[in-house]
Amino acid sequence: MNKALRRPVIAGNWKMNQTPAEAKALIEEMKPLVKDADCEVVLCVPFVDLQAAMDAAAGSNIRIGAENCHWAQKGAFTGEVSAEMLKAMGVPYVIIGHSERRQYFGETDQTVQMRVRAALDAGLTVILCVGEYLQQREQGITEEVVRLQTKIALGGVSAEELKRIIIAYEPVWAIGTGKTATAAQANEVNHAIRVCVGELYGKDAADRLVVQYGGSMNAGNAKELLAQPDVDGGLIGGASLKAADFSVIVGAAS
Ligand code: PGA
Repeated sequence: MNKALRRPVIAGNWKMNQTPAEAKALIEEMKPLVKDADCEVVLCVPFVDLQAAMDAAAGSNIRIGAENCHWAQKGAFTGEVSAEMLKAMGVPYVIIGHSERRQYFGETDQTVQMRVRAALDAGLTVILCVGEYLQQREQGITEEVVRLQTKIALGGVSAEELKRIIIAYEPVWAIGTGKTATAAQANEVNHAIRVCVGELYGKDAADRLVVQYGGSMNAGNAKELLAQPDVDGGLIGGASLKAADFSVIVGAAS
């Protein structure tokens, strides 16, 4: 499969960190460090930081994303934010199905599918997260788990819409634990995801699909992970909160 067809995407996931003022300061610090990147650079930030982040990133090569969105356009969903609201703000990216949403906030494959639908309808680009728990890896069902997550999430997504989907493979046991998947493990599952998408949409679409790895990717291990034939970028948690570390990862993808 031809890696040259795909432009790598390095996306930060700030999770529940940074006030708007801190967001602005961190982006100002990052801008000069990533300005020559030969890859897409995205920062997904808390809802309350979106405006400050977009203002700080304006005119630079940093794009801003949200970390979640609801499936309904509007309505009685206290505390939620719709894809339409993100669109109205001019936010281009959204993470959907992150394992922390699945683990702590009752997200299921079905609600992930609904959120993907809403995000695509609003014109957003989706970073769709899939990944197995440690117990599932130990049972030898990693590939089945990520294939099922991928297939359900993409239910109803057209070939044209698939161009606005990035898939992030994030083994749950590697997130925030300092335990990274080996480069070979990451590549193996990323490849399986690409094969699965190929079965659904054909080889061309699969060749063009950006599949990221996420889970304790950092300045030290990024180069080896990103050199893998099926690893087209990263979804970076902890290391995206440090300008120097994040810029090293961006450099490794460029
Ligand atoms: P981490 O998080 O890089 O801190 O492991 C990755 C993620 O959850 O997206």
